[in-house]
Amino acid sequence: MMITMLNTLKITAQDLNKPEIAEKLKATLLSGGLVIFPTETVYGIGGHALDPLAAAAIYAAKGRPSDNPLIVHVACFDQIDALAYREQAYIDALAQAFWPGPMTLVLRKKASVPQGTTGGLSTVAIRIPSHPVAQAVLSLVDVPIAAPSANLSGKPSSTSFSHVENDFTGKVDVLIDGGDVPIGLESTVIDATGPIPVILRPGAITQEMIEAVLHEPILDHSESLVDGAPKSPGMKYKHYAPQARLEIVSGSDEDLLIFLRQAIAIDPKVGILGPHEVLDQLEGGTHLDLGSRAHLDDMAHQLFGALRALDDQQITHAYFIAIPDQGVGKAIMNRILKAANHQVITLEETSKGTL
Ligand code: TXA
Ligand code: MG
Repeated sequence: MMITMLNTLKITAQDLNKPEIAEKLKATLLSGGLVIFPTETVYGIGGHALDPLAAAAIYAAKGRPSDNPLIVHVACFDQIDALAYREQAYIDALAQAFWPGPMTLVLRKKASVPQGTTGGLSTVAIRIPSHPVAQAVLSLVDVPIAAPSANLSGKPSSTSFSHVENDFTGKVDVLIDGGDVPIGLESTVIDATGPIPVILRPGAITQEMIEAVLHEPILDHSESLVDGAPKSPGMKYKHYAPQARLEIVSGSDEDLLIFLRQAIAIDPKVGILGPHEVLDQLEGGTHLDLGSRAHLDDMAHQLFGALRALDDQQITHAYFIAIPDQGVGKAIMNRILKAANHQVITLEETSKGTL
């Protein structure tokens, strides 16, 4: 496909209140154009979800494989029945508890949703975002909007406006500047087609939160492979990867410090991503401080920006200090394991073998 450079219009969230800009935005989306807007999770690259040509344009702009389905965003719950079947009783309970918000439900699709949007699948992923700018865009056009994360395929998702400006100027019709997004990790994706909900991608809405609402255990298949193929098509691709060789390092603080001091001695520029509790005790290296590990939400918020900063600072080798795989930590580790291509160094206890 020939890629032509577009004249990208950059607007602010406040500009949406101007009638001429609102009209232009609406006309752009209804005629198959692409608009990047902030959501509470990450920025999304949006197009008309029921227009297969708009979906094709999204895949082309991202450089994304066309078998990796898009998430369809709607403004409110009433719009879902036109798109998908609500077959399980727990769907309404989850919707009540977590929408609008960072949750995506995979449902069996109706004929109205083109296979071009769902990557050929008979299911469709649906989300009602809470971000006021996302809500304003959806209400303005009054059609469902397909919006994957606004990053070039394989790169970290975008959490601030500079990220989408870098990746998409000239490739989409409109960019809406909504500043930094509040959460910084993509939504929790849940397969809601069967009798028990199954997490396909962990996010800010955790397994524990869902189980507390449903009063029963659910499943997490976010790391599992079905017949060698991940259940969520997006899981099989390398994701979030910086240019740098990235490795995860796990161990006690004492062992981490010994290991990282050696690494800095070998490569004084080596990148180190992690909590400031550990970074504060290190001199040298290139620190990418994710905040305190007592505040996993903050660490989630910093993660993608830090991965992009590795490239900006031309770091060629970096370590990520592992965090506990609990709550939002599970979503952070899910993303970083992909970014690091599952390269994990587990440090032995210092006490082992010594007396
Ligand atoms: O927070 C988010 O979800 C953001 C914002 C923009 O809403 N969107 C987002 O979209 O992360 P994307 O396309 O980057 O990720 C969608 C994920 C992929 O892993 C995809 O494979 C999965 O959801 N997915 C989409 N439709 C699916 C379906 N029908 N069945 C299983 N997985 C699906
Ligand atoms: Mg994505």
